[in-house]
Amino acid sequence: MLKTACEVIAEQGFGHTRTLDIARAAGVSQALLFYHFETKERLFAMAFGYAARQHLNALTDVEQSAGTPTDRLRSLLRLCSPAIPTEGWRLWIDAWSEAMRSTELEETSRRIDARGRTLMRGIIEAGVACGEFDCPDPDSTTWRLFALIDGLAVQTHAHPKVLSRRRVNVLIRSAAASELGCPRRSSECRDPHLFPVLLDSPYNYWARRGVHAMTSAPSSTAARERDEQVASRSAYRAVIERLSKASVDKHWEPYRDIPWDDPEFHVDQTDPRWELAGVDRLGGHPWYLSRSPEVRARIGLWRVATAMKIGLQFENLLKRGLLNYAYRLPNGSPEFRYVYHETTEEAHHGMMFQEFVNRTGLPIRGMPGPLSVVAQVAPWIPLISTELFFIFVLGGEDPIDHVQRRLLKDGRVHHPLEETIIRIHIAEEARHISFARHYLRNRVPRMPAYRRLLLGIASPIILGVMARIMLAPPGPMIRRFRIPASVVTEVYLRNPAARQEIRDSVGKTRELCAEIGLINPLTRRIWQVMGIWEAAAPSAPR
Ligand SMILES: [Fe+2]
Ligand SMILES: [Fe+2]
Repeated sequence: MLKTACEVIAEQGFGHTRTLDIARAAGVSQALLFYHFETKERLFAMAFGYAARQHLNALTDVEQSAGTPTDRLRSLLRLCSPAIPTEGWRLWIDAWSEAMRSTELEETSRRIDARGRTLMRGIIEAGVACGEFDCPDPDSTTWRLFALIDGLAVQTHAHPKVLSRRRVNVLIRSAAASELGCPRRSSECRDPHLFPVLLDSPYNYWARRGVHAMTSAPSSTAARERDEQVASRSAYRAVIERLSKASVDKHWEPYRDIPWDDPEFHVDQTDPRWELAGVDRLGGHPWYLSRSPEVRARIGLWRVATAMKIGLQFENLLKRGLLNYAYRLPNGSPEFRYVYHETTEEAHHGMMFQEFVNRTGLPIRGMPGPLSVVAQVAPWIPLISTELFFIFVLGGEDPIDHVQRRLLKDGRVHHPLEETIIRIHIAEEARHISFARHYLRNRVPRMPAYRRLLLGIASPIILGVMARIMLAPPGPMIRRFRIPASVVTEVYLRNPAARQEIRDSVGKTRELCAEIGLINPLTRRIWQVMGIWEAAAPSAPR
């Protein structure tokens, strides 16, 4: 209901939204709305609080993400970019206006603003400490950059025709460059990767497509855009080289780095640390809680082991696809080396996951048989479209990464073997996801329009199906423990939180697709039909 309220408010504004509009959109009576929220003001404040929580989660993800201060600053600026079309900014700007009259909204919006500034200041300070940035007063720089972002957001949303997206990004990029001691031209920048990829996608879209050559732009502009094209290509290449180097510097081998035979790492099916917690909604259901501790532990272990089995099957398809992609790469291609690093790491993950499954002693099956047969087409996708293949890659890796990160954050004491495996996996997957995202950012804007449209149509279908495969409850587990159909339906199928989990698990890929131009009114409808569209949450400003 709160999500629907956010959508209606973003569309109509706080001042023009009636409770009747929200009730109609949510398919409930006004009486029910007032029963839950008592007053309109309270409903608005709670709806805004909901959007704020989504954004706080996104900020926390940036804060906890692996990578250099440059990487994290880039992620933060993308998250806050006024150039990404989003209903989040409209809601936010409207909330600022209402905050002058509403104490609750003022408190919430001030808290989120402060959180965003604290995060940026911390990143800048970390960058100064390690020599990536040169900035004498990170606090003042933070205020200036956010003031610029906020001001540009108001301009671009209040007067949409005044500034192009590209211009907005160039303004922010240039300001960040000079504030952090980097000249604007990437060739002179201390970190050549920083600014070309800081906000690289929309601003140089037209430049990449060569439109500058057909327009009567001044020669200085044309020259600058040519520089940006070169900078963009060299930045992409630099990212791949950095990922390849990181794969050599920091990687794990399952049979060397995991003490499988340490008594503490022994897998006991009845260990209470396997019991499901809040991350899996079955863990809070009365049916589950009424089982004996041993059964609860076995169900939890079954769930973990199945996720690993499906993960290794997906990664098996992924490895074969990567090798099919690499087979055709020309000599000198930087992607070749990185793809081989990734394939090697995925081979280690497969061994690590299978060893875990073996040690559970449970009869774990992975994907259902028919699905497993259909999935055999996946390794051949690169022969049709490498862009589609990397959407498939993100479709599997993002939901796994999402669930594993949530597991580590749930505040429970985990079995040390589970925790070690998850930590290794998250660390190496961050590189794989980064490569897929950079590949798509580099390639998609240069695709012919009809291929981009086809990719935009296929992407939500692939992502919606894959998120469900990755998050669905295992059938053998349901049968083995005789979990009643009504419980399965209640917990996994007709549960708004389960649907939200599916939407959240593809959140980062959805934002990427929006950024690289794969979402338009037609394809957005497909995202909605697949149940993975989030109207209010993506990219709400800080
Ligand atoms: Fe993996
Ligand atoms: Fe991976």
